[in-house]
Amino acid sequence: MGTVALFGATGVVGHSIAQALWGQGRGYRVVGRSREGLQREFGADPQAEIVTWNPDDMASIQAAARGVQTLIYLVGVPYWQFHLHPVLMKRTLDAAIAEGVERIVFIASVYPYGRPRTDVVNESHPRVPHTNKGRLRKAQEDLLLAADKAGSIQVTILRLPDFYGPGVENSFLHRAFVAASQGKRAQLIGPIDTPHEFVYVPDVGPTVTALMDHPGAYGRFWNLGGAGVTSQAALVEDIYAQAGHPAKYSVLGPGMVRLIGLFSPFMRELGEMHYLHTSPVIMDDSALRALLGDIRKTPYRDGIRQTLAALSPAPVATGHPHPAP
Ligand SMILES: NC(=O)c1ccc[n+]([C@@H]2O[C@H](COP(=O)([O-])OP(=O)(O)OC[C@H]3O[C@@H](n4cnc5c(N)ncnc54)[C@H](OP(=O)(O)O)[C@@H]3O)[C@@H](O)[C@H]2O)c1
Repeated sequence: MGTVALFGATGVVGHSIAQALWGQGRGYRVVGRSREGLQREFGADPQAEIVTWNPDDMASIQAAARGVQTLIYLVGVPYWQFHLHPVLMKRTLDAAIAEGVERIVFIASVYPYGRPRTDVVNESHPRVPHTNKGRLRKAQEDLLLAADKAGSIQVTILRLPDFYGPGVENSFLHRAFVAASQGKRAQLIGPIDTPHEFVYVPDVGPTVTALMDHPGAYGRFWNLGGAGVTSQAALVEDIYAQAGHPAKYSVLGPGMVRLIGLFSPFMRELGEMHYLHTSPVIMDDSALRALLGDIRKTPYRDGIRQTLAALSPAPVATGHPHPAP
């Protein structure tokens, strides 16, 4: 089996994929900008090869891609740096092609669909983003899909909904987990009672490795839905119930998000994505299930229990050499 490299490995999805590869007894390369960070996250795993890259230097990107068969692209940038997404993708793609990398797997989002036109969105839904961030994400996908069509490299794209799980701070539910575990009040972004789905991040790794290994995966994108349709309100109630505290939260509406955005770059950029709280994208992933068969989907109740456990002072040992993601 050829070398698998995780570009942007130190995020939560990188951890989930690394754990899946570790469990399969496979070696893998982790690529990031800081050796110290990679060492801290993956240094305990003898199956992980640590490689740094400078994403501003083509020679460095090529060196990181050298000898790789499958490149999994996981780079995430803050909302206010989204303009970097197509730039970094183009450089990585060019470097991968120059080095003879056979396949790229891109971990993507729902943003390119834009405002949903149907209650449930499958892969035939048009990609017509009305937001700047959606257009930049679509530009990344278009670069990859064009390269696949041209026969330069094989590409598959996996679209994920909002994240949650142990150690996942970049989640609308994170504040609720922290506040509930301390019996405090959570601040949520509303409305919170609209349909919503979340993916439990530890479930992502096994799905990515199954997709990556499937010859039928390439040349297109795939939806991966969450463990069913729920709402922030329903999940937050369960988070507090499992934490053993009465639910206590306040909800920020779009006006407050705009106001706080005067001071916070994240909240400012969140404004244009607010439609996802009122017109949520709920993904139909039947095509992916038809391709891969069973997909691991941890029920929300269990995912909440495990996420709370990871916040407790004495986390349960995970039995593998990675620190919990
Ligand atoms: N959070 C969600 O709900 C959600 C939902 C759907 C999709 N996604 C997307 O799924 C992907 C994986 O998510 P994740 O949370 O695992 O990723 P992440 O933590 O957002 O980013 C992964 C890694 O990218 C690297 N990175 C950041 N800025 C960079 C830059 N300017 N140049 C090069 N590398 C840079 C960092 O690694 P180093 O510092 O080690 O270099 C970081 O650890 C991301 O693209 C994310 O946006 C997220």
